[in-house]
Amino acid sequence: MSEDVGLFKKAAAQHALRFLESGMVVGLGHGTTAVFAVEGLASLLNSGDLEGIVGIPCSRQTRTMAESLGIIVSSLDQHPVIDVTIDGADEVDPRLNLIKGGGGALLREKIVAQASRREVIIVDGSKLSPTLGHRRTVPVEVIPFGWRQQAEYLEALGARVTVRKAEGGSLFITQQGNVILDCGFGPLSDPEGLAEAIKRRTGVVEHGLFVGLATDVIVSGPDGIRHLRK
Ligand code: A5P
Repeated sequence: MSEDVGLFKKAAAQHALRFLESGMVVGLGHGTTAVFAVEGLASLLNSGDLEGIVGIPCSRQTRTMAESLGIIVSSLDQHPVIDVTIDGADEVDPRLNLIKGGGGALLREKIVAQASRREVIIVDGSKLSPTLGHRRTVPVEVIPFGWRQQAEYLEALGARVTVRKAEGGSLFITQQGNVILDCGFGPLSDPEGLAEAIKRRTGVVEHGLFVGLATDVIVSGPDGIRHLRK
């Protein structure tokens, strides 16, 4: 990450923290941008500017980090409604639809997003795109049993499919024990239709198309902060 991009991510996170109020249940996203929100939240709790926050982490890494910074974390079972979630994204279109899952946490991120009253996405300007799929592949989480058949199905939908590998070359396994197929479809003319077609296949657990879930996107770049609303 270049120094500038790091600063932009941090600035977007700082801006999003303004939406938090004491006593809220807060979804804690996953990834290099969301980390800045977790750190910022911990500072606000330490300084006493916020209190009584309960965090719902989207990943084990985020849980570990939040706990190490003294943030109280809990589960969706205990807190089924989240007031505000702050999370990153890989690509954002003008309708605030997203591609997520570059970090492999898309399933929990989507479960947390759909439980959130407000889903605030924080990005640096490079993530904005006229059309989803222009810059990024669509991650699709499938169960390991028979995953090659799901890859063939996705190819039949028009994707170039690459199975995600971990460092060292073994299959990347998600925190639910699944495999991720990264699907290059090119620019998506109909993300909703594609999302439905992907979900239709048995063996597919979830995909990284977040359609209609983001309520706010905070974009940070050389010209400052922009707040895009649904
Ligand atoms: C994690 O699975 C992702 O959805 C991340 O939110 C997304 O990949 C953005 O990550 P960065 O903030 O690291 O760019």
